[in-house]
Amino acid sequence: MASQDWQYPSQYCLVGTALALIGVFDSGVGGLSILDEALRQLPQHDYIYLADSANAPYGEKSSEWITHRSLSLCQYLADAGCDAIVVACNTATAEAIQQIRATVQVPVIGVEPGIKPAAMQSQNGIVGVLATEATLKSDKFNALLATLPHHCSFIKQAGAGLVPLIEAGKADSEETLDLLAKHLEPIQDAGSDTLVLGCTHYPFLRKSIRKLLGDSITLIDTSEAVVRQLKRQVEQLPSHDNVTSDHCGSVTFVSSKDDRVLLKMARDLMQSNLEAHAVSSTGLGTIR
Ligand code: DGL
Repeated sequence: MASQDWQYPSQYCLVGTALALIGVFDSGVGGLSILDEALRQLPQHDYIYLADSANAPYGEKSSEWITHRSLSLCQYLADAGCDAIVVACNTATAEAIQQIRATVQVPVIGVEPGIKPAAMQSQNGIVGVLATEATLKSDKFNALLATLPHHCSFIKQAGAGLVPLIEAGKADSEETLDLLAKHLEPIQDAGSDTLVLGCTHYPFLRKSIRKLLGDSITLIDTSEAVVRQLKRQVEQLPSHDNVTSDHCGSVTFVSSKDDRVLLKMARDLMQSNLEAHAVSSTGLGTIR
């Protein structure tokens, strides 16, 4: 485990062209799906991607644990000088976003399962929702569900065991396909024409999902909308005026487990050309 006290290199905070420092946090590699989209829409900024892989999965942990840990890690990103933080984890958003927003002094953007766009896009009103157990049980998710039209039925399924497989670099393996097939069975049997990817790890299962469910099912992944929201927040930051369009900012990968493994997984899983960015990796320092 690479673990040392770490501070964000001060020269990055002073760079005149890459204006905002954006923290992206997830229990592990799932938030890379959000970072990927952020680098597409907002390549000029600097990023710290923080993966708590030593503690993934969060989805089967207690509400109190998730809240406490998410708060500590977002505070860490704020202390590192982030101008905005993306909680790129449905589970942490569901359990802790209110406390995070009440604690850190910078804009915080969360992610939640796209059940609203799914209800709008579904033709037959049968929508599958694949998310973690904690997300599906959370008050936040159930409050959102209660606002949606009654003619839509949501088939909720916890994706137990999927996150550890993705964390182990087995997103495209037979083992993952078998487990996914079990989880998707009730969703398929109900005749869902739309599937919400309610965990940021799951976009990395797209290939396997297509293999099992075919091309006709609509997959709902909210990363584009989340980054549009981030863009709106960043545009309001005072430093935003200095942005130049042709500059690519830096990306620092920070892991609570193994920063080199995280960097390798980022290169494997992400579509973005990381070579265009100044990329580095480091272990997570001690968190109180
Ligand atoms: N990627 C996360 C989410 O969106 C967390 C998954 C987990 O750690 O269980 O929910």
